[in-house]
Amino acid sequence: METGKQLSGTLAIAVFTAALGSLQFGYSLGVINAPQKVIERHYAMSLGVWSERSALLENSTEGVGSSEDQTHPDVVMYWSLSVAIFSIGGMVSSFLVGFIGDFRGRVKGMLMINVLAVAAGLLMGLSRMWKPHIMVITGRAIMGFYCGLTSGLVPMYIGEIAPKAYRGALGTLHQLAIVIGILLSQVIGLDFVLGNDEMWHVLLGLSGAPAILQSFMLPLCPESPRYLYILLGKEQEARKSLHRLKGAYDPASDLEEMRKEKEEADRQPRVSIRSLILSSVYRQQLFVSLMMHLSQQLSGVNAIFYYSTAIFTKAGVSQPVYATIGVGVINTVFTLVSVALVDRAGRRTLTLVGLGGMCCCAVAMTVGLKFQNNFSWMSYVSMAAIFLFVSFFEIGPGPIPWFIVAELFSQGPRPAAIALAGCCNWTSNFIIGMAFPYIQAWLDSYVFVLFAVLLFGFTIFIYLRVPETKGKTFEEIAAFFQKKQRINKDNSELQQLKTSSDA
Ligand code: GLC
Repeated sequence: METGKQLSGTLAIAVFTAALGSLQFGYSLGVINAPQKVIERHYAMSLGVWSERSALLENSTEGVGSSEDQTHPDVVMYWSLSVAIFSIGGMVSSFLVGFIGDFRGRVKGMLMINVLAVAAGLLMGLSRMWKPHIMVITGRAIMGFYCGLTSGLVPMYIGEIAPKAYRGALGTLHQLAIVIGILLSQVIGLDFVLGNDEMWHVLLGLSGAPAILQSFMLPLCPESPRYLYILLGKEQEARKSLHRLKGAYDPASDLEEMRKEKEEADRQPRVSIRSLILSSVYRQQLFVSLMMHLSQQLSGVNAIFYYSTAIFTKAGVSQPVYATIGVGVINTVFTLVSVALVDRAGRRTLTLVGLGGMCCCAVAMTVGLKFQNNFSWMSYVSMAAIFLFVSFFEIGPGPIPWFIVAELFSQGPRPAAIALAGCCNWTSNFIIGMAFPYIQAWLDSYVFVLFAVLLFGFTIFIYLRVPETKGKTFEEIAAFFQKKQRINKDNSELQQLKTSSDA
């Protein structure tokens, strides 16, 4: 029984508490979609571009203002900024993940940054009291900054406290909480719930709520034993933390593994982001990590999330809002499937199946969009393709990049690697969000061909370059890359010798 594999109550609480940060991230990602028109109207009123005619219309029969007022260039500009500033906040702060995680530890780090989430929630929740556009934009910027940090700290903490046999399943809970957050925001963003004129500010303000709950629960969570031992050299405290997380068991082998990692880390200078980029030692791992994150974002999944209503309308669906919620449900269900499979089927297999499946769906979507005017049943093809696309995403390419980076690196370079991968994720997310409408206008029905090509390329890359990390210790994973690097070096030396002798 004393295997150290069991899932203790404290471990469950620690993972749940950390994942509240991911829930908040998902909620903030999704919340801005549904109430767009309502918020734009309030922006227009506060900017003074809400004409008397619209006010009259609103007070009388029709209840809404003219769309001309809502699409006043200033309103469009402030709205776009409200959406985009979130990713910009995340791009900037993801660089600081290593610093915050190492400063006072993972748990205190998560606790400290909650100030940001609460402040952002308050700004948005109170946005009707002053200029809503300024309040919402400032709130979204701070919330994005918070989410950039949380999207790194949560997988780092979970990856470090999870027993090896459950590292994949527990790591996937980060993504599960994200998708639940997205779904929650879609449901309570419906116009008859909170996505209406009276309550939209509450809808936005609620994005700070999980941080309050998390702040009460974090003091109950043990600090990461790896942080305590490898970074601070506090063996006794690490031992206590291991006991709290895994119950009564003999921690000798866990401590031995950490001791080796500590020796290794002590031998090397501190790994900063700059030295990680420049060092040839970690090049392979870093390349794989960045490509995993790029494959997640350039798969086009957020094109579906951000623009699903428009895509469904184009595909001829009559109730696009509900179809969008359907996507949220499928998204959640298949992330659960991934939780169940990832430690059995493995990261590599699930990523390959996921990306390959998405590639086929992107082709099917193109066929559906292209021929929908010729055959009415083609809209079902598009619809099924969208649902399957999202399902394949959640089986592997969605959750795995978030936690595999923590698996690919040992303690020394881990925070810097997570920071870089996070920044790559946020930047590519931002680019897709901004560029998709233009790409769509340019490629029209062929827009998903672009993603199909990218997905095909990523599938090949993963097949050739990504090792399986399931059930391996951090040391074994590092050893794999070192071996690979040695082989590459030997090959290039051989090649050099060959060319010089040929000459
Ligand atoms: C992943 C992505 C995020 C996306 C979400 C959808 O967490 O990082 O950008 O919106 O999955 O489920």
